[in-house]
Amino acid sequence: MVKLHDKKFELYIPDRTIQERVKELSEVIKSKISPTDDLHFVVVLNGAYMFAGDLTKHFETTCGISFLKVSSYEGTSSTDKIELQLDVDGSLEDKRVIVVEDIVDSGNTIDFLINHLKKKKPKSIEICTCLFKPRAYTKEHEIDFVGFEIENEFVVGYGMDYNQLGRNLKDLHVISS
Ligand code: IMP
Ligand code: MG
Repeated sequence: MVKLHDKKFELYIPDRTIQERVKELSEVIKSKISPTDDLHFVVVLNGAYMFAGDLTKHFETTCGISFLKVSSYEGTSSTDKIELQLDVDGSLEDKRVIVVEDIVDSGNTIDFLINHLKKKKPKSIEICTCLFKPRAYTKEHEIDFVGFEIENEFVVGYGMDYNQLGRNLKDLHVISS
């Protein structure tokens, strides 16, 4: 059991299971990439930092990695007021972009990011997320690569936070009722 601010969290998905799945996911992505693709990962800070590190180390071929930062979450609920706080540096023109997210919940963030990144004229944009809450998702875009589908529960760890705490935990934890 972990206490962060006023809430308690219990073990949800252990580190070992996460690592096995991330490796598997990297193999799935690799099987769909052709040698002519100019592969470029766009990592969504802060939450995706740990997932992105684990995922991208399984790629042996050349690929670009850049970062952007958005804010939307307050406490344990999503808001639709999304702000871009940091943009990617460099060009994404003609690149095969894979956006790396920690978790897709309502889909507001992904929707915002796709519209934002399209303006940079990449060849394509795909979404890779560690966690996906299908029952909370309200958008149309297909989520191309998903680590784990989860229920509508609030989770922390593996990069994800509750009011800025819990990101460093290597196991995923879920809010305890
Ligand atoms: P969306 O815009 O509703 O899809 O939410 C996306 C962002 O909210 C994610 O990238 C996370 O940073 C954050 N988020 C959503 N659900 C959770 C959660 O259960 N724990 C921690 N952060 C979350
Ligand atoms: Mg995120």
